[in-house]
Amino acid sequence: MTEEQQQIRDLAREFAENELRPHAEEWDRDAHFPREVIAGLGELGFLGMLLPEQYDGLALDTAAYVVALEEIARGDASVAVAMSVHNSLPTQMILAHGTDAQKERWLPPMARGEMLGAFSLSEPDAGSDAAGMAANARKTDGGWVLNGAKAWVTNGGFGDVVVAMARTDTPDARRGAKGIGAFIVPTNTEGYSVGKKEDKMGQRASETVGIAFHEMFIPDDQLLGDPSQGFIYALQGLDNGRMGIAALAIGIAQSALEHALGYAGERRQFGQPIRAFQGMQFKLANMATRIEAARALLHRAAAAKDAGEPVSMLSSMAKLFASEAAMYVTTEAVQVFGGYGYVKEYPVERLFRDAKVTEIYEGTSEIQRTVIARELYR
Ligand code: CAA
Repeated sequence: MTEEQQQIRDLAREFAENELRPHAEEWDRDAHFPREVIAGLGELGFLGMLLPEQYDGLALDTAAYVVALEEIARGDASVAVAMSVHNSLPTQMILAHGTDAQKERWLPPMARGEMLGAFSLSEPDAGSDAAGMAANARKTDGGWVLNGAKAWVTNGGFGDVVVAMARTDTPDARRGAKGIGAFIVPTNTEGYSVGKKEDKMGQRASETVGIAFHEMFIPDDQLLGDPSQGFIYALQGLDNGRMGIAALAIGIAQSALEHALGYAGERRQFGQPIRAFQGMQFKLANMATRIEAARALLHRAAAAKDAGEPVSMLSSMAKLFASEAAMYVTTEAVQVFGGYGYVKEYPVERLFRDAKVTEIYEGTSEIQRTVIARELYR
């Protein structure tokens, strides 16, 4: 790590230890997102980590960003996913495809944490097949009128601005993945409504909602780039996002390992701490090895991104490997705790539940394998 990366890691670790970890159990139990924590992340600059200084960002590279995200996830995965979505998707999409005026208008308040961002691609009937979406945008004088229902939107209720994808092609001339636009949608726009808040297995504090657009007018200056390229912009965004989710998965796994190490040192059976048993040592060694391997792969992907190299395959590999490692490590952590791992009194039960969705959101493990295989043949 560079000196700068170490400083960022220490800052993130201190914040996570003081502001997140002590409350994670309660937020999970109550499915409550601590909105006030967003202000704290904003003050640290953690909501504009990848944005240039001219937009009030920290102008950090991806390598430093994923280090910070891992630490935040080690404290609380629900807060980390809100931070990951905001930093990786809407802000990066506006930075990459917005006009100067759009960047000036939206990025500084987002970087300062005054506006929390969300990303809306999925629909109830369009998950892995995201280009199969039905929500549509009809051109009208001075803008677009959006209609349709979107699903699984992190930060979609209490967030302030969503980058949302909708069809811009017409029913008589469908253009598939090349007939979708990306729109900057403030959540207080007339016609924007928030539906069901999902009652989830894990990452329960993070807000995941359905949203709907009903005759929602979006002015031309809130369309991002080319109205036919929104799906491509979204997939480019997900190249960043998937590295964020990999970091998040590693943070969850690291936390589970630390709890397992502590418990195996304290718990005595057959007259000795269970860490003295080779069976337990093998478990802990396997857990630590998978975490290090996941971290190394993620840092390889981040370095490629920072060097301007193609990153789709590496970010999918990093997400795939890290999320499966998180599932493995948290499952083993529950096993190390035995019966105590199965009850809510100990944190590994929550970490096990928190890990699962990293294999699902921002593209399932099956979709990551599809992306990797396609790239191998490219
Ligand atoms: N960057 C740029 N362009 C890309 C790209 C990328 N990473 N990936 C594909 N493209 C281009 C393709 O080259 C293609 O263009 P050409 O025809 O000119 O070559 C175009 O995009 C369409 O690509 P595909 O033909 O591959 O499209 P597809 O319909 O077969 O879908 C997919 C590909 C990989 C399956 C994609 O749909 C996908 O990733 N699905 C998963 C969706 C997903 O991750 N959803 C998560 C939503 S966010 C979330 O989870 C909630 C949250 O808030 C955390």
